[in-house]
Amino acid sequence: MTESQIKTITNIGAGTMGHAITLQFVINGFSVNLLDSNEAALKQGMQRIKEDLETFNQAGLLSDSTVNILNQIHPFTSYKLALKDANFVIESVIENMQIKKQVWQTVEQFVDEDVILATNTSGLDPSDMQSVLQHPKRFVVAHFWNPAQLMPLVEVVPGKKTAQTTVDRVVNLMNKVGKHAVPLKKAALGFVGNRIQLAVLREAFNIVNEGIATPEAVDDIVKYSLGRR
Ligand SMILES: NC(=O)c1ccc[n+]([C@@H]2O[C@H](COP(=O)([O-])OP(=O)(O)OC[C@H]3O[C@@H](n4cnc5c(N)ncnc54)[C@H](O)[C@@H]3O)[C@@H](O)[C@H]2O)c1
Repeated sequence: MTESQIKTITNIGAGTMGHAITLQFVINGFSVNLLDSNEAALKQGMQRIKEDLETFNQAGLLSDSTVNILNQIHPFTSYKLALKDANFVIESVIENMQIKKQVWQTVEQFVDEDVILATNTSGLDPSDMQSVLQHPKRFVVAHFWNPAQLMPLVEVVPGKKTAQTTVDRVVNLMNKVGKHAVPLKKAALGFVGNRIQLAVLREAFNIVNEGIATPEAVDDIVKYSLGRR
């Protein structure tokens, strides 16, 4: 399915990342089926979306009313119902390979084989995750940064069996909802953003351990130079 045919997203997981990703899609005109296996988590996710929408509204960032935007979100606890009209599926359940594999096997029972499937894993191996799929070419990582409703970057990371067209379509879709999508050539532990972030963190600890500067001085040096926004 090409990105221009995508109208309805199914977002699995309504937590920190899932609620923010849902918000990003509905603000940009998509309809979202928001699925969480836990009823209380689903309610909490909807509440967080409402609060974020109110903040965006007060900042003058919305082109439609909060009521109209909220009406485009359909909450579900049933996989079958949440996936019946899905044109694209993104998953942000907890960072556990077994659970994510079970989720994707269930998803495949309810969607057509040309529907793209994307995981927001922070670092699990996409080749391993897609190994349980009957149609692995349509599977890819779309790694958002927290808070996903504000941070532009989405790393798009293929597994060994991911088709290049899947990467290209997800890059285009993410750019369409206001993100800055960056494709990687292949997966690696921590992908790229977290590797760089952790390399900087390791060096900050080294500097303090070697007695070169205090933690406060290191914070200030980063804050007033390379960490500046
Ligand atoms: N929090 C971050 O900074 C961050 C950043 C980028 C990526 N990620 C990744 O995003 C994913 C989610 O992280 P989070 O911080 O949003 O977690 P979270 O704990 O806030 O939310 C996870 C949600 O998934 C739901 N869930 C668990 N099992 C489920 C299942 N089988 N079916 C449906 N829903 C299920 C839970 O009820 C919960 O609401 C993880 O893979 C994480 O590594 C997190």
